[in-house]
Amino acid sequence: MAVAGPSQKWRKVGGRFGSSPAPNKNGVVQELLTRLSVQAEVTRGAEARLMEPRPRGALCAVAMGPLQLPVQPPPPPLPLLLLLLMAPGAEPFEPITVGIAIGAASALTGYLSYPDFYCRFVECCHEEQPVNASALKLDLEEKLFGQHLATEVILKALTGFRNNRNPKKPLTLSLHGWAGTGKNYVSQIVAENLHLKGLKSNFVHLFVSTLHFPHEQEIKLYQEQLQKWIRGNVSACARSVFIFDEMDKLHRGLIDAIKPFLDYYEQVDGISYRKAIFIFLSNAGGDLITRMALDFWRAGKKREDIQLKDLEPVLSLGVFNNKNSGLWHSGLIDKSLIDYFVPFLPLEYKHVKMCVRAEMKSRGFTIDEEVVTRVADEMTFFPKEEKIYSDKGCKTVQTRLDFH
Ligand SMILES: Nc1ncnc2c1ncn2[C@@H]1O[C@H](COP(=O)(O)OP(=O)(O)OP(=O)(O)O)[C@@H](O)[C@H]1O
Ligand SMILES: [Mg+2]
Repeated sequence: MAVAGPSQKWRKVGGRFGSSPAPNKNGVVQELLTRLSVQAEVTRGAEARLMEPRPRGALCAVAMGPLQLPVQPPPPPLPLLLLLLMAPGAEPFEPITVGIAIGAASALTGYLSYPDFYCRFVECCHEEQPVNASALKLDLEEKLFGQHLATEVILKALTGFRNNRNPKKPLTLSLHGWAGTGKNYVSQIVAENLHLKGLKSNFVHLFVSTLHFPHEQEIKLYQEQLQKWIRGNVSACARSVFIFDEMDKLHRGLIDAIKPFLDYYEQVDGISYRKAIFIFLSNAGGDLITRMALDFWRAGKKREDIQLKDLEPVLSLGVFNNKNSGLWHSGLIDKSLIDYFVPFLPLEYKHVKMCVRAEMKSRGFTIDEEVVTRVADEMTFFPKEEKIYSDKGCKTVQTRLDFH
């Protein structure tokens, strides 16, 4: 397979690799102007405004490519005022009518140039907006099963980080666990709580090791491209979210290219990375987590009694010393740049059943407990003797449900 060069593969295309072409800045403005029916009159003004620096507090950005500039709200439709004044029956210089017309026009133009209005048409970065902690809590508690540690850590980490106006470094979370335990699912929930469009947002970037960094001999190229990509997109939206999936399949050393962005620097080459979020997903450490869960189970202790402090140090050390973790001897761990190691516990029979019910509900079916049990019984469980944990987590539940 040919390796795509930087210009092909790494150009931000409408927020996704390889999707439909991104609108350019003028295209976006054009679309807005068309909607406002004042295209001809304001085009010149809009183009002029694109050249101006972005104002603080009204940060509206369109992700169009690594080094794109954010776009300002369009200029107010001043010709509307003239239209009002020229309307049939209008008394040209009658003071009250003119006064009302001016009042109405300025109210209208004020409204139209307000960022909220603009952001209805174009996705905005909303740099200063804190995360809605109760909505995130509800989402995690209702949707994510059997992961009391992940729920607690992610909720605390995100709300703390987002509500801090001056974080000293970007937030870095490393999610670890057995297959099908909800790592990608949580990333989706997090993305949706940070940017309305979730994983489809132009400000959320998902990298999959085997897809985006397949060839070991190209590490240097990937590192350069990755740096450019992150630099460009953080300059467009400081609150960008970068998710690295399949970290355990990432070539050794590749991830260290992003180390400067994760450190405690105020700026790197004029750009601050402190409001960005980096999430790493990995199966590495899944065995350590399972061993701990099993020890608790065998000792007759509750799964919910496992605490983060029991697992976090074991995980960080285990991942650091694991050649196939993507973080082997990584400067990110060495320099304590990963804020939280988040363990995902292996899922039990009752959690699989919860996943089946959730899936039935999302499809609009009434919940049939017989079907729930049949689907859960089809899954395989380990260890051989006790058969406690689902070896695929909830991963094949959706497809299995199709057969019932
Ligand atoms: N803990 C969970 N709570 C609720 N649903 C879950 C959970 N874990 C998995 N699921 C369901 O199973 C699907 C697959 O899980 P997901 O892709 O998040 O697993 P993963 O941990 O990323 O696995 P892998 O390590 O194999 O990539 C999710 O989309 C979700 O529907
Ligand atoms: Mg996954």
